[in-house]
Amino acid sequence: MSARLRLGVNIDHVATIRNARGGAHPDPVRAAQIAAQAGADGITLHIREDRRHVRESDLLRLASVTRLPINLEMACAEEMLAIALSVRPHAVCLVPERRAERTTEGGLDAAGQHNHVAPFVRALSDAGVRVSLFVDPDPKQIEAAASLGAPVVELHTGAYCEAYGSEEGERLLEAIRACAALGAAKGIEVHAGHGLSFENVSPIAAIPEIRELNIGHFLVGEAVFTGLEAAVREMRRLMDAARAGA
Ligand code: PXP
Repeated sequence: MSARLRLGVNIDHVATIRNARGGAHPDPVRAAQIAAQAGADGITLHIREDRRHVRESDLLRLASVTRLPINLEMACAEEMLAIALSVRPHAVCLVPERRAERTTEGGLDAAGQHNHVAPFVRALSDAGVRVSLFVDPDPKQIEAAASLGAPVVELHTGAYCEAYGSEEGERLLEAIRACAALGAAKGIEVHAGHGLSFENVSPIAAIPEIRELNIGHFLVGEAVFTGLEAAVREMRRLMDAARAGA
C-alpha cells in the first residue's frame, strides 16, 4: 500500500477574515490548533509581500505554540528569505508572486528562472529547511526542480480543480499523475495543492506518489458552515478513503 497521505492545512484565509476588520479575531493560530486536533499533519501559511493575510507576528506565535511542522510559502525575495532564516520552519515552499494576483495563479518557473531560484534553494537547504518548489504539472519543471536540488515539489492543482468534471480536467489529472511519477522516479517527494475541495480531492489523493496535500481556502470557507474541525475531519476522511481505493 502507498504511504499515508499527509494533510497540510493552510490558515491564510482565517487571517484574511481577521484583516477585513483589522482586529485580532478570528485568530489564525487558534485555527491551526483546531486543525491539529482534527487530524492535520502540518500547518501552511503564506506571508505575501503585501501582508494581505498572515504576517510575521502570526508565524512567530504559531511557531511558539504548534507541535506540527510549519510549511512557509514565500516568494524568492530577500525580505522573505530573512524571515524564513530567522524562524527556520520545517519547510519552505517557494512560490511565484505578483502583487496584483488574487492568489498564486501559476507555478514557479523553475526552468526559466533557474539562476534566480538557485540561491534561495541553497540558502534554505544550508539552514536545514526542507525546500519545496510550487510548480505546474509540466515535466520540464520537474526536471528543473531536480537540477536545482530541491527535495520536494508541490504540483499546482489549480487548473485541474477549475476544469474538474470536463475533458480538460481529465487531461490535467493525467498530467499531474505523470509528473508525480516522474518526480518520485527522480527521488523528489511530491506534494500537491491549490483549489482542492471535497468534490475534487479524491482523484488527486489516490495518486500513490503524492505524499502531502496543502489545502486552505475551501476548508476555511466550509468552516463557516460546519466549523473548522468538521471540515478538516471530512477532508481527512475523503483523503484516506481515496488512498485506500474506496
Ligand atoms: N499550495 C500553495 C503553494 C499555495 O500557494 C496555496 C495557496 O496559498 C495552496 C497550496 C492552498 O490553496 P487553496 O487555498 O486554494 O487550498
